[in-house]
Amino acid sequence: MFEHLNAQAQDKIMALMVEYREDPRDTKVDLGVGVYKDPTGNTPVMRAVKAAEKQLLEKETTKSYTALGGDPAFVKALSGLVLNGAVEEGRLAAAAQPGGTGAIHQALELVKMANPDATVWVSDPTWPNHLSIIKHLKMKMTPYRYFDNDTRAVDFSGMMADLGNVAAGDVVILHGCCHNPTGANLNMEQWKEVTELLGAKQALPLIDIAYQGFGDGLEADALGVRHITSTLPESLIAASCSKNFGVYRERTGLLMAVSPDDKMKAVTQQNLTHLNRQNFSFPPDHGARVVQMILDDPALRTEWETELEEVRNTMLGLRTQLAEALQARTGSDRFGFLAEHRGMFSRLGATPEQVETMKEKHGIYMVGDSRMNIAGLNKDTVDILADAIVDAGV
Ligand code: LMR
Repeated sequence: MFEHLNAQAQDKIMALMVEYREDPRDTKVDLGVGVYKDPTGNTPVMRAVKAAEKQLLEKETTKSYTALGGDPAFVKALSGLVLNGAVEEGRLAAAAQPGGTGAIHQALELVKMANPDATVWVSDPTWPNHLSIIKHLKMKMTPYRYFDNDTRAVDFSGMMADLGNVAAGDVVILHGCCHNPTGANLNMEQWKEVTELLGAKQALPLIDIAYQGFGDGLEADALGVRHITSTLPESLIAASCSKNFGVYRERTGLLMAVSPDDKMKAVTQQNLTHLNRQNFSFPPDHGARVVQMILDDPALRTEWETELEEVRNTMLGLRTQLAEALQARTGSDRFGFLAEHRGMFSRLGATPEQVETMKEKHGIYMVGDSRMNIAGLNKDTVDILADAIVDAGV
C-alpha cells in the first residue's frame, strides 16, 4: 500500500534546521527556526517555568485525564492573558491545543465544518505552515498583499484593496503581533480599519498570536486582537505559549472561538471538544499546567514577566545594533527598518542567491525568503552578519 504514497514537499524551516545541525563550521550562525537563544546560544528554560516545574513535581498527585478541552484553569488563565476581558465569558468558547500549530489546524477544521466553501485569505507572505495546513485540509486559499518589498513596511493600501474582495463566510488569517516572516505590523488605526472592513464583509478573522510579549510588550501586543474580537460578532484566535513561555517542545496552545451569544457559544464549545476527541482526545497537559501555575501565582508571574521583558529588550537591542552596524558599513539608512520591525523576525529583502552566498561563504543560515531570526543573534555575531550582508551585495 505504501507504494502509493508520494514524497511530501519539505517544510523550508525544518529542512534548514537539519542543514544547520549538519554544518561542521564553528563559526556558523543560526537565524533559521524561530527559537530564542541567549548570548551563549542556548535556549534556556525560563526561570518561572523551572520554579513551577519544581512545584509540580512535588505537588502533582495524578496523571489521570483532564478534560477534553484541557484544564479549565489553563483555559481561563491563557484566555485572560490574551483577551483580558475584552470578550464576555458567555461568548467565549475555548479548548487547549498541542501548540499554536494545533490551534491553527483545529481552527481551520472548524471553519471547514461550518462552511466547506470558505476561502482562507493569507498575508503574502505568511508562515509557510499556514499554507501547508490549508493545502492539507484541501481548503481554498487566496493571498492578500501585506509587505512592501521596497519600504519593508506593511503595504496597507494593497492589503485593504485585496481584502475588499473577501466574501461573506471567508476566513482571513491575521498575525496578532510580530508578523512572521516579515516583522512588519499593523498599527492600531490599521487594526480598526481592518476590523471595520471584515465586519462589513461578514468575514471571519482568524488571529494567530504566537509572539505576545515579544514585540512592544504583553499588553501592547494584544491590543489588535482585543479590538477585533470585542468588535465583531465572531472570531477565532489561535494562541501559542511556545515562544513567550519558552515551552516549545511541550506543545502548549489554545484555540478560542468568539460567538455572538451564549447559545452559539455552547454549540461552538461542543464542536471544539469534539474536534479534540477526533484528533488527539486530550490535549497535552504539562506545559499547560506550568503556564497556568505561572499566570495564577503573583510571584511566578512577576518572575516570568521580568524575564520576558529581558528577552524582548535583548531582541530590540540586537535590532538597533544590527541597523547601526549596517549604517556604518554602507553609509546609508536603508537598513533602518530592522530597528522598526518587531518580534523575532525581519525579512531582510535579500535574493535567494544572496541568501545562499551568506550561507555558503559565511555560515549564516536564514530562511530562503531572507527571513532572519533576530533572536538567533548575539552581540558578537551581529558584526559577522553585517559583514556577510554587505559582502553578498544586499
Ligand atoms: C518559525 O516560524 O520558525 C516557528 O514558528 C517554528 C515553526 O514551527 O516553524
